[in-house]
Amino acid sequence: LVAPAMNTKMLESPATIDNLALLAKRGVEIIPTAVGLLADGDTGAGRLADPVDICDAVDRALAAGTSMAGVKILVTAGGTREPIDSVRYVGNRSSGRMAWAIADEARRRGADVTVVAANVDLPRRSDVRYIDAPSAAAMHAACRQEFAATDVLVMAAAVADYRPVTTTDGKIDKSAADAMTITLERTDDILSDLAARRTTQILIGFAAEHGEAGLARARDKRSRKGVDLVVHNDVSIPGIGFESLDNAITLIGPGDGETPLARMSKAACAAHILDAVYGLHTGAPRP
Ligand code: CTP
Repeated sequence: LVAPAMNTKMLESPATIDNLALLAKRGVEIIPTAVGLLADGDTGAGRLADPVDICDAVDRALAAGTSMAGVKILVTAGGTREPIDSVRYVGNRSSGRMAWAIADEARRRGADVTVVAANVDLPRRSDVRYIDAPSAAAMHAACRQEFAATDVLVMAAAVADYRPVTTTDGKIDKSAADAMTITLERTDDILSDLAARRTTQILIGFAAEHGEAGLARARDKRSRKGVDLVVHNDVSIPGIGFESLDNAITLIGPGDGETPLARMSKAACAAHILDAVYGLHTGAPRP
């Protein structure tokens, strides 16, 4: 029910309060009014709620039955940058769009969503908590901090596998040498580390790989990293993945299951991934 009012007095009148309470008791979801300028010139509570909030509430109501209400989901997003000096870094092409779509879909289903974001330049929602973690080490620290209170971890970020051993303060002066060698060292594998610490958490990993051989590597990654589900996408196919709005994924797991999905929007991919998470969380078959 969306109930805008002419003025705050109308909204606060005992009749309105009682009627809204009765409807809520009967199971009607009340979308609260917004605060602002009202029809009679007053300012206060009573304005029609933002259409985006109304649509979100309708989406959530329609998603009932696949509800993730009360489920705490931690989604990592974007690509980490490992500093060479104060202006240069070793990075990758991840835009964060797939993780953003998962966060949107999880909110649509009523989950409590935290996003650990590495260098993502996309609009943020007011109903999602964001933790900025630009490097692999920062992302690792943030994930460790959040993990105990998490039900589902979706590790969608492209975490750098290597970082420069040393970071130069300030900007390296190119006149100092014609060539340069940067020595890289391995970063910690965040997903494997968290898998070793898991109690009841459901873990979802990603695998951006090339071709048929990549699919085999993704299968192997699932058991090696100790996760419930690996989302494989073939980054050798032009026009999908990375900066694109579409993706073509194969879900590896749960169990022996393997689900190749056609090319579709990242929003639709997110719905498939969360259907699988829903099954893992509730033990129910996928809706
Ligand atoms: N990942 C991670 N920490 C890292 C590297 C990767 O948590 N230091 C996570 C990614 O977020 C992803 C999964 O591990 O969910 C697979 O990432 P990918 O880069 O495809 O795999 P690698 O770790 O490089 O796998 P491999 O060991 O097969 O090279």
